Amino acid sequence: MEPSTQKLIHTFGALADLGQEIAGTGDFTEMVRTSMHLLLGTLALRRGAVVECSGPGPLRCVAIWGLGDQALNSLEIDEPEMASFLCGEIRESLVKNTSSANVFLNKHRDNLLAEGIELVVPMIVRGEVTGLVLLGGKASGEEFSNDDFETVRAMVRHIGVGIHTHRLLEQLAQRAEENRRLYDELRTIYRDTVRAFAAAIDIKDKYTQGHSERVGRYSEIIARELGWSEEEVEGIQIAGYLHDIGKLIVDRDIINAPHYIDAKNSSELNRHPNAGYEILAPIRHPYADIPLMAKHHHERLDGRGYPDGLTDQQIPMGAKIVSLADSFDAMTTDRPYKRRRSFEDVVVDLRENSGKQFDGKVVAAFARAILKEVKGETRERRITKMLGKNYLEGDQVETLLADLISDLEGDYFRQDAKAQSL
Ligand SMILES: [Fe+2]
Repeated sequence: MEPSTQKLIHTFGALADLGQEIAGTGDFTEMVRTSMHLLLGTLALRRGAVVECSGPGPLRCVAIWGLGDQALNSLEIDEPEMASFLCGEIRESLVKNTSSANVFLNKHRDNLLAEGIELVVPMIVRGEVTGLVLLGGKASGEEFSNDDFETVRAMVRHIGVGIHTHRLLEQLAQRAEENRRLYDELRTIYRDTVRAFAAAIDIKDKYTQGHSERVGRYSEIIARELGWSEEEVEGIQIAGYLHDIGKLIVDRDIINAPHYIDAKNSSELNRHPNAGYEILAPIRHPYADIPLMAKHHHERLDGRGYPDGLTDQQIPMGAKIVSLADSFDAMTTDRPYKRRRSFEDVVVDLRENSGKQFDGKVVAAFARAILKEVKGETRERRITKMLGKNYLEGDQVETLLADLISDLEGDYFRQDAKAQSL
């Protein structure tokens, strides 16, 4: 085989290797380093470097071989120097060519020659200089031939595209990060706004300070125990905060009536789930079904709830959770007409009403979450904080919860087995 054919095949092989290296998803610096070594190896060059720039200023060394670590530290490029590389006839420049019109070379010639750099090739992608490839002379001492220039041009173009692509990917990652940050900020703003609303709802009802906030937190705890995703958990928390937003349209005297309210006032008060739905439905919430959870938080599994008298399967799961959180908070906080109930009493109520008012699976999940906290298995004691220090104390609490869970889960499995046998 002719030496020139051999050389051609060798160059093709190097170009193929270079293409593979650049298309790889590995480390960027490693990619540039390997590419430069392929280039040096193909032409048997003693030394070389790849420097990049993203505008006028210092050139950043990405790969260097056969030169001192500090050799290129002082290299800078300005606007006219970048422009001079964009002129077609001086795309690659021999450093020793003193008649060159390249202003970069004319400025740095002595420095480059002192370091043994003989050829400077700009990496130009989409009409911009992304950096320079600086090459030493051939190990054989021969001059660069036209074929060599062709090879250098092709390989440097590849490296330039690799650097350009890497930058685009970096910009994309930055934008994605920026978008994620903005989205998080928006969600925080949304949540803070919702909490402010919750506080406004609770202010209207002077007996239930902090009720909506607690319902939000209980709902979140129950949903997490039920294995809901983080996004769904955030959504149910919001639904809890807003479940009584419809009370904003109910007369303050009715909400704050200290005793029994008559049928007329009661039906006025019972408008609040539908009113809540009307208020929330036109808003584009970042979570699904918030308006429906507000609308149905007074439904019961036995169909005796309001506003629509829905039954078990018809009630959205989120509304079942908010309903339990709402009733639990009502039972465990003092009202003007009655003191809160003991935990034992509350457990009796929950057992009695599971399957009628509450969904047994939801009650069991809440009981499991409380039991975990009572046993010290949770990092925070959030439920205890809401109920006050002494409420969940006593020898009986663990047994009460364990019995409730086993009864409800037993019921659930029995129902499940019955459904499967039908
Ligand atoms: Fe309500």
